[in-house]
Amino acid sequence: MTLALSPSVPLPRHRASRRPSLFDSLKSVCPPLRSAQPAPQTVLHQNPLDGGALDLRIEDGVLHRARHREAKIILVGDTDESLGSLCELLRSDGYSRLRCATEAYAAVNLARSWKPDLVILDLARPHRAGLEMLSKMAQAADDGLFLPILMLSGDASDKVRLRALSLGACDFLLRPFNPSEVGLRVRNLLKARWCQLELSERNGWLEAKLRERTLEIERLQSELKEAQAEMIVRLALAAEMHDPETGHHTRRVGLSASLLAQSVGLHEREVQMIQLAAPLHDIGKIAIPDELLLKPGKLSPEEWDEMKTHCRIGAQVLACGQADLVQVAQRIALFHHEHWDGSGYPMGLCQEQIPLEARILAVADVFDALTHERPYKHAWPIDEALHEIETQSARHFDPQIVAAFRELPHEELV
Ligand SMILES: [Fe+2]
Repeated sequence: MTLALSPSVPLPRHRASRRPSLFDSLKSVCPPLRSAQPAPQTVLHQNPLDGGALDLRIEDGVLHRARHREAKIILVGDTDESLGSLCELLRSDGYSRLRCATEAYAAVNLARSWKPDLVILDLARPHRAGLEMLSKMAQAADDGLFLPILMLSGDASDKVRLRALSLGACDFLLRPFNPSEVGLRVRNLLKARWCQLELSERNGWLEAKLRERTLEIERLQSELKEAQAEMIVRLALAAEMHDPETGHHTRRVGLSASLLAQSVGLHEREVQMIQLAAPLHDIGKIAIPDELLLKPGKLSPEEWDEMKTHCRIGAQVLACGQADLVQVAQRIALFHHEHWDGSGYPMGLCQEQIPLEARILAVADVFDALTHERPYKHAWPIDEALHEIETQSARHFDPQIVAAFRELPHEELV
């Protein structure tokens, strides 16, 4: 073999007579298609003139001629003479983007740089170097796409044929070959190549669409969560309208409860939900008269019974919530006055029967109430409030929550 690399072999160009093609006929009877689907589509029609298949592509709703004749084909052969006759054959079929090589190394390099759609390997007597080139050619399509290789050979032995096919040849023809058969094999291999390109393009389009839709869904979910959180805050603000001090209390309790939730090892999402839901723990007080809420002295037993109803009223306000956040808020509203020893209200639950978020809220709520002035009491010093919390461990409060509360920065909570 020589080291010659011929960009193209000068040969007489085929001049096809201009007559209406099937494509022209179809275009005349079919208006330009406007597909609702943005993805490219391929429609295969039978060409009655030569019995072969004619590819027609629909892209952006417009019918396009097949890409057959645009195929880039590399011809690799023993001599310039053998390649010349093959080139002439392909040009007579309308193929014009042809490159020729008579040396294995140059042929593989050309395949890597030019990215052909088809390789025709024409070896009169397949030798070891020629067969090894087959596997290198197959690997040269490093874009992961199928590169068809047609092998022509004068060696009819099973050994050579099977070896060629195992090394990457997609089709095998014996010399002397029938020119029409070569043309049909080339067309079929190119069709396989086009189908794979179409599939790859469609997959790429689908992946891009999937990424786009996924981002859109994530954006909508994020907006929905923000809307939920905002509505919770506005609901809490509505409940605070008749007592601004209650508003400060609910926000401080939300912060303390979230720190406690973090301290007992809850996940970030649960911590966030408790922080958002905690300010609604007394939402039921929206139905309690101001003369009770703002009464400077102690409540009578009847007034106290009425005050206790704020737990059930709050739970009714938040009932049947679909969102996790609303369900957490409902549990906190209903159970935040339950006691670890079962002496609380409204249901007298004890220990783990009380939802964890309500047990957390109870400690945060009482600490804040003790350390701030109310119409009926003065503000306790932090150490006295902490002592009271410790005293109520395993009575009013969950001992584990009290232990976690002990470690919090109490000065920052008041
Ligand atoms: Fe309460």
